[in-house]
Amino acid sequence: MNSLNDVDYGTPKRASTETVTLEIDGVSVTVPKGTSVMRASTEAGINVPKLCATDTLEAFGSCRVCLVEIEGRKGYPASCTTPAENGMKVKTQTPKLADIRRGMLELYISDHPLDCLTCPTNGNCELQDVAGLVGLREVRYGYKGENHLEMKKDESNPYFTYDPSKCIVCNRCVRACEETQGTFALTIDGRGFESRVAAGQNEAFMESECVSCGACVQACPTATLTEKSVIRIGQAEHSVITTCAYCGVGCGFKAEMKGSEVVRMVPWKDGQANHGHSCVKGRFAWGYATHKDRMLKPMIRKKITDPWQEVSWEEAISYAASEFRRIQQQHGRDSIGGITSSRCTNEETYLVQKLVRAAFGNNNVDTCARVCHSPTGYGLKQTLGESAGTQTFDSVMKSDVIMVIGANPAAAHPVFASQMKRRLRQGAKLIVVDPRTTEMVKGAHYEADYHLKLKPGTNVAVISALAHVIVTEGLVNEAFVAERCEAQSFSDWKAFVSGPENSPEAMADITGVPADILRGAARMYAAGGNAAIYYGLGVTEHAQGSTMVMGIANLAMATGNIGREGVGVNPLRGQNNVQGSCDMGSFPHELPGYRHISDTATRSEFEARWGVTLNSEPGLRIPNMFDAALDGSFKGLYCQGEDIVQSDPNTQHVAEALSSMECIVVQDLFLNETAKYAHVFLPGSSFLEKDGTFTNAERRISRVRKVMPAKAGYSDWEITQLLSNALGYPMHYAHPSEIMDEIASLTPTFHGVSFGKIERMGSIQWPCNEAAPDGTPIMHVDEFVRGKGKFVITKYVPSTEKVTQRFPLILTTGRILSQYNVGAQTRRTDNVQWHSEDRLEIHPHDAEERGIRQDDWVGIESRSGQTVLRATITENVQPGVVYTTFHFPESGANVITTDNSDWATNCPEYKVTAVQVMPVTQSSEWQREYQRFNRQQLELAKLETTDQ
Ligand code: SF4
Ligand code: SF4
Ligand code: SF4
Ligand code: FES
Repeated sequence: MNSLNDVDYGTPKRASTETVTLEIDGVSVTVPKGTSVMRASTEAGINVPKLCATDTLEAFGSCRVCLVEIEGRKGYPASCTTPAENGMKVKTQTPKLADIRRGMLELYISDHPLDCLTCPTNGNCELQDVAGLVGLREVRYGYKGENHLEMKKDESNPYFTYDPSKCIVCNRCVRACEETQGTFALTIDGRGFESRVAAGQNEAFMESECVSCGACVQACPTATLTEKSVIRIGQAEHSVITTCAYCGVGCGFKAEMKGSEVVRMVPWKDGQANHGHSCVKGRFAWGYATHKDRMLKPMIRKKITDPWQEVSWEEAISYAASEFRRIQQQHGRDSIGGITSSRCTNEETYLVQKLVRAAFGNNNVDTCARVCHSPTGYGLKQTLGESAGTQTFDSVMKSDVIMVIGANPAAAHPVFASQMKRRLRQGAKLIVVDPRTTEMVKGAHYEADYHLKLKPGTNVAVISALAHVIVTEGLVNEAFVAERCEAQSFSDWKAFVSGPENSPEAMADITGVPADILRGAARMYAAGGNAAIYYGLGVTEHAQGSTMVMGIANLAMATGNIGREGVGVNPLRGQNNVQGSCDMGSFPHELPGYRHISDTATRSEFEARWGVTLNSEPGLRIPNMFDAALDGSFKGLYCQGEDIVQSDPNTQHVAEALSSMECIVVQDLFLNETAKYAHVFLPGSSFLEKDGTFTNAERRISRVRKVMPAKAGYSDWEITQLLSNALGYPMHYAHPSEIMDEIASLTPTFHGVSFGKIERMGSIQWPCNEAAPDGTPIMHVDEFVRGKGKFVITKYVPSTEKVTQRFPLILTTGRILSQYNVGAQTRRTDNVQWHSEDRLEIHPHDAEERGIRQDDWVGIESRSGQTVLRATITENVQPGVVYTTFHFPESGANVITTDNSDWATNCPEYKVTAVQVMPVTQSSEWQREYQRFNRQQLELAKLETTDQ
């Protein structure tokens, strides 16, 4: 069903610059060529009844209620499938048309329950509307004939129901699943009167391949597919446009509300990142915001073995401030620091780094991007001059070759994956570089032309071998390189990659990728037309993460695949605001806009504005904070919206570091794993409870709007402000828009950004300034941000994490669709029905060798620690490689990951851990200790939580 107040134009907008002019009911209308008569009518304010048409899907022409008369044409053409033509004269309302339409409606209604008054979509049902519009007053066929009124509902999906008795077989859901989502889970089963919508092989939705994206529910014009929240609460009465708080796609949503209660989240049709599509997380998994586990009272305690004490906001803030000042007096100015969150808004993140630099007086601020995309920032800055992706998501629709490296967008960036799959179905070529056979390798109506199934940890060897083929086979775009890139760096790089040691043949043993496959992929990337690279944490979370990012940029520059639509280098950012948290100066060495803290001119600008003297030395990164804590020189931490105990590698080391500190202030929605080591707990606010902006993976800044009051009294930015004031550094923002104004005035790439402009434009892609007042969809168009593009030599250095007889397998980690990051949000929703535990994926050979059967408990031991998970035996992983996710704290995935990290940025090497796997009968020692500690901490907080 359409969202509140949305006009449905019936068929999609056409982009043609050529226009046609026609007359509809005496009104002259001009529309782009290819526009349907239906859309032209709606644009002219003339409402033609329709049932099977909707403007998010191509016309299908099955319901026949949209018939019109066209002068000079026989019969009654369907307006949805008839293109508007110059000089056409159309009548949409005649007695004959009214007659036909009433007749059609009569047929539909005779097989439809007449329970409108008690139907959950009463008031928002297109069938009801059309019946009203055509003036249906009687149903001559009666309701006694053959019908489907007794058909059973499918309630299997936790978020929506399927009531076949209400289905009018308009096919909108089937088309939505195909065209919009690309899953092809639905079909029309049976013929003629017997036909009905079926999921999978005529099974329950939950048993089928449905991924619960909600597109079919959105498309359904009747109550057949209905959100359970609408059934429970009723129709919404107002709506607010906001941005999803889950992944880096940054989908726009309409929060449909009843007072301050969310009725449903509907993907916003005008959302420039998602164009009206969504995934199961943003669409349905928002219940965590009102979950009973939300912590709503500030709490303090002296030691982590003391019971928590609920206190007033005032007391909690003043305790935190006095502790921080005490620690600084005893242990020095640099003994405390802060961690910003990629889940918080730009404005909140900016305030935390400002608090650290201005009120703490040091640069000990870091962010969770440290553990995901910090190599992207470093690598792209070195080569291209800007630490961000180069394209819009829509750019993929102009790609001829798509290379996906170390990413599984179908799981982690689902709405973008749907768009990419649409392009693949149109015929674009696909190269996947991934140790696993993910959904990106093969799916409905697409298959990778090349799958480079490399051994984990050998990315750089692969990228150098790809470059070798491009250089030695004359596939370099010489004109582009000569005009746009540094000549010396290119010739050095060329000489390096052409070396025989970088040939695919020489590298095959190291990478495990057969030379012919690698050569084929290189030729396709270089010579296949517009080629775009999309990459994820499978690139960055390695000891050579930054090297690989630079290798990717080298490849794009060498082939001229940068600076226009359809090409580019595209990091797929994990969390909703990873891009923003980096932009906002969350790193210890960079002020907002990626300007080095040692730069006197930049520092002076901030000093003048903030009224303080800034330290010119970079502060501590997160891993350095832990080391310093263990050395006794780092004693206090302000951690906003981030669960470092669960998300950072080598959990025991993190826990030990935190246990040695004197004041940890955690600001979060839940008593997360880090909060169990905290001394002050400040209740955070969800994205529904605050105003601000998020910046997605395409540098798109979108508004987050408050739809309900902050449950604990304050939005996160207000809490930071209170803390700053208590520390004696005044902050007096009345609204986040004022914070953005300050960011804009101090950051050249944001000079033109304001809440007012975002309001007018819907969203803005930075850089947005004097040179680009409406933002910058594609970067590096005429020249690179750094001037000339710089090639960097990418020598492959094997990871020090080696397989041995004791640890013969490589463990790599990743995400799945239904869960998000540490799972604190998604675990508190019905998404657990898809994934209720982390599993270890193991190849049948490795399983058999060890006597492991499907679902057995297995112990996974690395040089860092041991944990126990259940096994899933699958050929999706190659022999020698095992895989797991990290969404549940008790899984302890990070108990086994090591301290190894990227040489340039310290991003952990999550993707390569040498392990042994053996069948076991009981949980690991760490897990037993975790359970004991967890129980103790919950008791100290007087909590019973479902989260364990
Ligand atoms: S929810 Fe999405 S995946 Fe599932 S059937 Fe509907 S459109 Fe297809
Ligand atoms: S379920 Fe809804 S969208 Fe699908 S065919 Fe039936 S009425 Fe149309
Ligand atoms: S794709 Fe990402 S941003 Fe969009 S709805 Fe899903 S989780 Fe939210
Ligand atoms: S809306 Fe045109 S045929 Fe159904």
